[in-house]
Formats: sequence, C-alpha cells, structure tokens
Amino acid sequence: MADLSTLKRDAGRHAADMVQSGMLVGLGTGSTAYFAIERIAERLRDEAGFSVKAVSTSFSTTLLCEKMGIPLLNVGSVSALDVAIDGADEIDPARNLIKGRGAAHLIEKIVARMAKKFVVVADETKRVKTLGASMPVPIEVHPLALASLTKQVMDLTGAERVEVRMAGKSKDGPVISDSGNLIVDAWISGIEDPKALAETLDALPGCVGHGVFAGLCSQVILATSEGLVEF
Ligand code: A5P
Repeated sequence: MADLSTLKRDAGRHAADMVQSGMLVGLGTGSTAYFAIERIAERLRDEAGFSVKAVSTSFSTTLLCEKMGIPLLNVGSVSALDVAIDGADEIDPARNLIKGRGAAHLIEKIVARMAKKFVVVADETKRVKTLGASMPVPIEVHPLALASLTKQVMDLTGAERVEVRMAGKSKDGPVISDSGNLIVDAWISGIEDPKALAETLDALPGCVGHGVFAGLCSQVILATSEGLVEF
C-alpha cells in the first residue's frame, strides 16, 4: 500500500480542486481534511480571481484556516453551504459514516447537514463492509447525563461497552469537546442499520451529538494504492 499520508493528500487535494470560485465551503477536521484546507489556501494564493469563504468544524480547523489565510464566517450565522469537505473514521458501501475520532462530530454534522454536497475524503483503510468494524461510536454527552445516557446506550444498542474518552498525556481527566461536553465511546459492532441507530441515539436526553452519519454523505473520494475511487 502507498504511504497513508500520500493517499490522504491525494484525496484531500482532489476534493479541494472541485471547489469553484465564489462558493461557501464547510471545512472538516483531521489529517485528511488538512490537505483539502491546504490546497484551498494554495488556490486562494495562486489562482487569479479565485475566492471562497469557509466555515470551520472545530477550533483546530479554525486555527489552521487563520494561519493559512482562509476567510472564515461564524458557523452559527450560516444556514446553507455549497459544499462541505471532511474526513471520516469508517465508511460503509452506502456512504454511511462513523466520525468523531477527533471529537469534532457535533459541529461536523451541523456543517455537513447544511451543505448542498457533503464530500468525504479518506484513505482506503477507512472502507468497511459494516460500520463498527474497528471504531467505537462517539457520543457527545452533557455532563449531567453521563450515567443515565451510558445505561441507555448499553440497554438500547447492544453496545459491548461505553467508555468516557480520556485525554491521555496532554491533560488529566476526560476529553472536553469544543462545545464543553464529555465524549463517550460506544463499542457497537456490526451496525447493519445506521439510520435506526442514529435515531435511537438522537432520542436520548443529554445526547448532544453522535458520530453516526447516516444518509448525509453525497460523495466519497477514497484514495487507494490503485488511485482515487469515487462512490
Ligand atoms: C474528527 O472528529 C473526525 O470526525 C475526523 O473527521 C476523522 O477522524 C478523520 O480524520 P483523519 O482524516 O485524520 O483520519
């Protein structure tokens, strides 16, 4: 297999090259979206007459856009986008996704939902037959709902376990999302009906957002050793 970083770069740049001047663009989070953001910044610098405005899906992407000179609008002030470009953690053949490894899935979903076209860029390791193959479903939870939501997820989804995501070496204690909530990871394997799971999670009090993106993605650009595959 080609170097993963090269594959991510190919996918990200290809998506960025589809953006047309004058568009309002949603910019995702993660190492593959990075390459799309970098390419858009390059086009703004090098192509005469090319201009876009963007909304960001995370503090991380906002910092990147500010550094690279991409003009940003406040995501909370925007209700429609021409296109959103983002990465994913798992992609099934029907373009359903698990997202949220980087805990950005709440804003990522707000942005994806308001885009006319939601393009996912990834390397081939993200392709799975059935969601839940190797990634947990991240759930952003209001802190006061932690115990009750955890129990309901265990009872209603067949999760093997539900764990509060910890920050690791960079901070003592749990991960706190950009919106000030906790993240729990629900290990649910063999997700045959992502839409039904999404609806179950959406209905839980205290679930602020979750990483099951069912029926939202318009196009996947997957970089493989044999070249780009689109579906
Ligand atoms: C962020 O929370 C995720 O939804 C990312 O979009 C996802 O983890 C993709 O990241 P990579 O492109 O780095 O794999």
